[in-house]
Order: sequence, then C-alpha cells, then structure tokens
Amino acid sequence: MTVAIHFRLARRGARVVRTQVGIVGAGPAGLLLSHLLQLRGIDSVVLEIRSRDYVEQRVRAGVLEQGTVDTLVASGVGERLLREGMVHHGIELRFGGARHRIAFERLVPGRAITVYGQQEVVKDLIEALLKAGREVLFEVSDVTIRGADTARPQIGFTHRGRGLELDCDFVAGCDGFHGVSRDAIPPGVLRYFEKEYPFAWLGVLARVAPSSQELIYSSTDRGFALHSMRTPQVCRFYLQVRAREDIANWPDERVWSELKARLETVPGFTLATGPVLEKGVAAVRSFVAEPMQYGRLYLAGDAAHIVPPTGAKGLNLAVNDVRVLTEALSAWYRGGDTSLLEAYSATCLRRVWRAQHFSWWMTALMHRFDDYDEFDLRLQRSYQEYVARSEAAATSLAENYVGLSLS
Ligand code: FAD
Ligand code: DHB
Repeated sequence: MTVAIHFRLARRGARVVRTQVGIVGAGPAGLLLSHLLQLRGIDSVVLEIRSRDYVEQRVRAGVLEQGTVDTLVASGVGERLLREGMVHHGIELRFGGARHRIAFERLVPGRAITVYGQQEVVKDLIEALLKAGREVLFEVSDVTIRGADTARPQIGFTHRGRGLELDCDFVAGCDGFHGVSRDAIPPGVLRYFEKEYPFAWLGVLARVAPSSQELIYSSTDRGFALHSMRTPQVCRFYLQVRAREDIANWPDERVWSELKARLETVPGFTLATGPVLEKGVAAVRSFVAEPMQYGRLYLAGDAAHIVPPTGAKGLNLAVNDVRVLTEALSAWYRGGDTSLLEAYSATCLRRVWRAQHFSWWMTALMHRFDDYDEFDLRLQRSYQEYVARSEAAATSLAENYVGLSLS
C-alpha cells in the first residue's frame, strides 16, 4: 500500500510519509483528485477526519452536469452511474398555480443532467481508489498544513493515536467550507466575497416513489420547495426555512404538510408521502476565496467556494476544479511546465463566478424574501413569467443549469 511503502522514521521520532500530492478531505473533490492523479501515475494520500461510513452515508447533492458525468465515465468510475443515474431532459418551475417546463431537449439540444446521489459518487470513488491500492486515511485528526510557500509543504496529522507527517510536493485543500486548508494561508493573502441569505434549506430523504418524473422548483407565498429524487423508490425534498432553523421544529408530519402546501399548487398534482429516512438543515450562502492558491497549496471545491443550492452547482464546481488541477499537476510532473498551475485559480474562477451568478439568480427567482414588499413581489412574478414564456430567457436558464463549457 502506498503509505506503507513510503513510511520512514523522521529525526524526532514522528513518522514521515512521503507522497507527491497530499490531499486534505475525502469529499467528491479530494477523492476524484486522487483518482484522476492515479490514472496519470501521480501518487497521493487522502486524509479525512470522518469515518468511511460517515462520508458514504452523508446525503447532499444529486444533480450532475453532463461534463461531470463525462469526467466520471471517462475516468472509469461511471459504470453504476450510467446504470442507476436518471437522465433528465427538463425541469419544472411551478408558480402562480401553474407548471412551466424548461425543456432542455428543445432549448439546449443534446444536453441533459443526471440525477445520482453525491454519496453514490463518493462510494464509487472510494471503491476505485481502494481497488487501485490507494490509501485513504479516515478518522484522522489534528490536521495542520505547514510550509505551503516552500518547495516541500507538509501536512501533520494524527491517525490511530500516532502523530504522522506527510511530506509532499503539493497540497490540495479539498476539506470543504469548514476545513483547515483555507486558514493555513497567511492573513491578507486571500480576498473573501460573501453573501448570507435570510433563509436555510431543510433537506429530506424519504422512502417514497417520485410524484413527478422531473424535478419541481416551486415558488409560493409560504416559501420555496423542491421535489427531487434518488431512485424510483426514494425521493429528496427541500423546503425553504428560517436561517439557523432548529430541525426539532420540523417533525415529519410538519415536513409533509408543508411540502404538500408548497407543491400541491397546480390542478391534478398530489404529493405521495412515505417514511422519512433522513433530514437536516443546511445554510444557504454564497462565498468565494480568491485566489484559490497559495504557494504549493491549491484549494478546490467547497474549501474555496460555496453557492446557494438552488442552481445545483456545488458538486459540479468541485469536479471542475480537480479536473483543472489534475491537468496542471500532470503538466508539471511531465516536464516542469508551471503555466497551468499558475493559471489554476483564474481558470477555475471563471466557472465559479458564472455559477455564483446563476445560483444567486435562481435563488432570487424562486425564494420568498421576508423583506419583499408588494412591489418586489410583482417584480419577482414578472421575472418568473418572463423566464417561463421567453425562449431567450428559458434558454439562458437551461444552458446554465446543464452546465456551460468554459474551460
Ligand atoms: P465536501 O463534500 O464538504 O468534502 C470535504 C471533506 O473534507 C469532508 O468529507 C469533510 O469531512 C472533510 N474535512 C473537513 N475538515 C477536514 C480536516 N480538517 N481534515 C481532513 N478532512 C476534513 N451541489 C451540486 O452540484 N448539486 C446539487 O444538487 C447540490 N445539492 C446540495 C444540497 C445540499 C443540502 C448541500 C448541503 C449541498 C449541495 N450541493 C450540491 C453542494 C455539494 O454537496 C458540495 O458542493 C460538495 O459536497 C463539495 O464537495 P467537496 O469535496 O469540495 O467538499
Ligand atoms: C438536488 C439538490 C439541489 O440543490 C438542486 O438544486 C436540485 C436537486 C438534489 O439533492 O437532488
């Protein structure tokens, strides 16, 4: 195994593990990076604070852009995704007592999205990595990154009670919004761009067959609701709730009655209900850290940026970052070419900012803001109707939703 081969005793008694790329975080970004690097013959070690079971069960995103699917399939981890993923050629916007379909097949021919749970992507990647003999160290603690601005950055951590050190050429900070990588960069280097929203999303996973073939984004006076799905037997729903809402305020009966109130707004639609398998509240925020690099530390995915979930872009951005980083690291290992590494942040940020705008726009289009007055509400409804009726506006939504090709 990679780690065992490279173990050697350091001077002060701590064990030092040598690897080419040290990766912090076994979410989609860290796991996919390790997998793509391995295909290029580049060695890496992934460090994760949670257990394998926890990261494989953590319910999050579900919408994969075509480019994300293509990356996973081309790298050999798409077999189950192609078998079990549900290809969707449109979404429904629901407002004003009517359905309005955004028809991808007409507006953006040949492009679609695939509905496949993020935790399934995570399971597929972990399986591929372990099969290839890669070491993913779960349940590590005390992760610290040192010497990011040197030629030999190091990651200190504790694993099974032992203090260890990873000696790397590069470090990839893939540890999500609450990780430690961003904070390893000296104050003043990064610029932060942030927006907080006055609401959160309550996510629900339930054992029930979908009541609709396609996703429904519903805007109502009571707030926003989203009907999504995972399999023909399991659905995923989201409700706009107050910021920092306590999940204890949402017993299952209240969840279902609110979902019904916000989704059963058109004639002939009934929401099927079933046992709730999991539920939780997630903050809605926009955040970008620029640049996404300091010395030999590269930030990727949620460690560098967060989008409101309305546009379903977070996971897809994480995949794009590590795709770009893989190309850049490969060019460096092939012949010392630093140009792609130098361009990494700017290349990723082009897509990040497009996704930021789209996610902010979709959020404003569909949510109920407490401070909206009658004028604001009329403007919002006018915009919703424009998107539903104008081919140009609908095409703009569709091309952003399925994913633009920017890099
Ligand atoms: P994460 O998935 O957060 O992974 C980071 C990993 O690092 C975690 O495993 C964490 O445990 C680990 N870690 C943290 N700190 C440390 C440390 N100190 N040391 C080691 N490891 C550490 N995106 C979409 O594209 N489409 C969607 O439909 C969508 N829906 C969403 C719905 C919800 C409710 C939420 C919350 C998010 C959604 N997203 C969606 C966003 C998407 O889930 C994230 O963008 C995605 O998880 C980012 O992947 P990541 O690998 O960058 O970060
Ligand atoms: C899902 C999540 C989203 O944020 C979204 O916009 C659409 C679908 C989902 O989890 O299925």
